[in-house]
Amino acid sequence: MPVRFNLLYFTEGTGQYLEEVIRGFPQGMVSQVRQLPSSLAGDRNPLPVETPADIWLMEYREDVAGLDQRIEEVQQQADQPAIFLYLQQADTQTLLKALRLGVQECFIGQIKEEEFQQAIQRLQKARKGLKNGEKTKVVTVQGCKGGVGVSFLAVNLAQSLAARIADPVLLLDLDLHNSDIGSLLDIPPRYTILDVIENFDRLDPQYLQDIIHSRDSGLAVLPGPLRPEDRELVRASAVENVLQYVRGQNLYRWLILDLGDVLDEVTLKAVEEADLMILVVQLTVPSLRDAKKILETFQLLEIDPGKIKVVANGYSSAVSIDPKEAEKFLGQPIMAALRFDHEAVIRSFNEGQPLVELLPGHKLSNEISQLVQILFPHDNDNGHRPGRWLKLKTLLRLRGAA
Ligand SMILES: Nc1ncnc2c1ncn2[C@@H]1O[C@H](COP(=O)(O)OP(=O)(O)O)[C@@H](O)[C@H]1O
Ligand SMILES: [Mg+2]
Repeated sequence: MPVRFNLLYFTEGTGQYLEEVIRGFPQGMVSQVRQLPSSLAGDRNPLPVETPADIWLMEYREDVAGLDQRIEEVQQQADQPAIFLYLQQADTQTLLKALRLGVQECFIGQIKEEEFQQAIQRLQKARKGLKNGEKTKVVTVQGCKGGVGVSFLAVNLAQSLAARIADPVLLLDLDLHNSDIGSLLDIPPRYTILDVIENFDRLDPQYLQDIIHSRDSGLAVLPGPLRPEDRELVRASAVENVLQYVRGQNLYRWLILDLGDVLDEVTLKAVEEADLMILVVQLTVPSLRDAKKILETFQLLEIDPGKIKVVANGYSSAVSIDPKEAEKFLGQPIMAALRFDHEAVIRSFNEGQPLVELLPGHKLSNEISQLVQILFPHDNDNGHRPGRWLKLKTLLRLRGAA
């Protein structure tokens, strides 16, 4: 099948060069060629593209006013094309800036034929991403003290959501002090967020998908650093780059981040990216006091209160503070009070499986599923039925074994 290109350039020589590159690719077809003006600032300066194409190959120049904004606008379009940027030369800063625009590929200087072909193949593989121009949204899950159940909730929310929707969900462990998502989901300790950070300069959607662990249900997982000393290697700016990159690729419908219980430079980067923030509390006096403090901090940070949702975990009617009283104290509704059930939770931890998957009919699993419906009302079940799929796979396996 032909791959249609729109070619946009600033300098004549570059335009001719890029056209040759496209024609050197056997299925390459040039739909449209346009020279761009030296400024693209202002609303009256959209990119001059009339013909639909699969890929826009664009010359990128940092000094052109409005260019970044125009590129970002294209990414917002419902049927957005893939964008390949070409830079005559670039330092790491410029390259990072270009990558942050969410484009699929960046080429610098001489483009090797093989390199160009591989980029197109990667794109064709990775273009299974979100449909209808949907964008990845970020959810943070955090507590104000360790042990309130942040990881338990993050894992189960992510699993429950992934099982409900057709698009993939990515769970990322950003609790650098206690990265246990990998172990809670029994993921072989191979790749972690450190691999993404260390290879950021040559990151592409295919590499990302190769190192991210995928569960059958459509839940993808990227564990945190394996050793405590590795946490020093995870810098806030690197986390910011990774989050913006993953977001820009729009491969996942939801990106769920376990932030643990510290508010530091790294977790604040995640908070800045968040569309929805879940604060996990226990209905005890110390936990609610801490929660109140953290809500005040969010206020100081001018975070939109509408995106903060409080969830109580480990609720027991015998000893916990009444959720209504807690709501009054916090001045914030409590979206759910998830029951205390040590046995069920520990069992799921020991089995390395989310509770909602291990014991789907359990009362605590039902409470989590209801919470997912409240928190993600627009993500209705759209035909993806992992339950059935898993069942079928088990049946086939049993048959094969018989
Ligand atoms: N709903 C619950 N009922 C009983 N125990 C729970 C519940 N949620 C979490 N726990 C227990 O609390 C402990 C901490 O859970 P975890 O999710 O690791 O918390 P965090 O990530 O906030 O440190 C675990 O030992 C787990 O068994
Ligand atoms: Mg945890």
